[in-house]
Amino acid sequence: MITVAKIGEVPNFGKKVVSVAGREILLINIKGTIHACENECPHQGSPLNAAVVRDGTISCPRHGYRFSLSDGACGDYPDLTLRIFPVRLEGDDILIELD
Ligand code: FES
Repeated sequence: MITVAKIGEVPNFGKKVVSVAGREILLINIKGTIHACENECPHQGSPLNAAVVRDGTISCPRHGYRFSLSDGACGDYPDLTLRIFPVRLEGDDILIELD
């Protein structure tokens, strides 16, 4: 796993984009639970850092498709899946697992 940020850098109900190994990863803090996903919508590539997060899903700001933050599934368009990365916290560090 790779350390990508400190937990204090991602405010509660906020987001932070980090660049890791040439990829943009979006970190999302929901009440202390950190989620990590690709910062690129699998539909037409819109960045997701301005997306609305609610009820465990992230809604793309461009066309509104919603993706689960658990597994990246898109309920309305099952052929689209947002890339989700496993997260672990170690002290103040946020670590994610890339491929
Ligand atoms: S680009 Fe994200 S829903 Fe179309």
